Amino acid sequence: MKKIVFDSYDQLSKAAADFVAAEINSKPNLVLGLPTGGTPVGMYKNLSEMNKEGKVDFANVTTFNLDEYLGLERSHDQSYWYFMNKNLYSNVNLKEENINIPNGMATDMDAETKAYDKKIEDMGGLDLMVLGIGPNGHIGFNEPDSYLIAPTHTVTLTESTIDANARFFTSREDVPKKAITMGVGNIMKAKKILMLISGANKKAVAKALNEGIVTPQNPATMLLMHPDVTVLIDKDADQ
Ligand code: PGA
Repeated sequence: MKKIVFDSYDQLSKAAADFVAAEINSKPNLVLGLPTGGTPVGMYKNLSEMNKEGKVDFANVTTFNLDEYLGLERSHDQSYWYFMNKNLYSNVNLKEENINIPNGMATDMDAETKAYDKKIEDMGGLDLMVLGIGPNGHIGFNEPDSYLIAPTHTVTLTESTIDANARFFTSREDVPKKAITMGVGNIMKAKKILMLISGANKKAVAKALNEGIVTPQNPATMLLMHPDVTVLIDKDADQ
């Protein structure tokens, strides 16, 4: 695991965008896994600007998002589809047919999870997976537990995740309790992983990544077993 520490969130965001753009420039048909959350917003802003300036071309890129809430329509302003459309899809030249995000409104969730995994496999797997990290160590919505699930699956969110995400909703009661997420198997099969960690509330989970212990109680520690992980972290989150 390679770690690069930045003085500020803005510097981290620029470096994250440069990293992703370099991967796309070396493989224009990159299969790219993407996160939502507050942390990647700056990266998406930089990538959107770089696309407009002709520095990165999404025309042949395929994206797969990590997760989506269950029960929110795409048009809901807290759905992850809405977030991605606002922060990236509508700003760059990604082709609509190359955008993938789990369908949190599917009537048959079992079929939806299997179809999502098959589509990733049919594309040859993820070339690059970009990840954020929850204050509880979750990656995607793989929550701390006594075990982790490898394929895409539905999950009941932990109380701490509902607390963390309540800031985006009018009230805590409005936060969906369930989600569909790629599993740790999907993430670990990505050829390369870029993890973004920002803010003092991530200090504890970030510190655990230095300790060499892999535990489902901190799902991000799974990444200690992946051969190609780069962590971009700001000094607020670094110990
Ligand atoms: P954040 O969320 O970037 O808003 O902190 C990260 C996550 O929960 O994965």
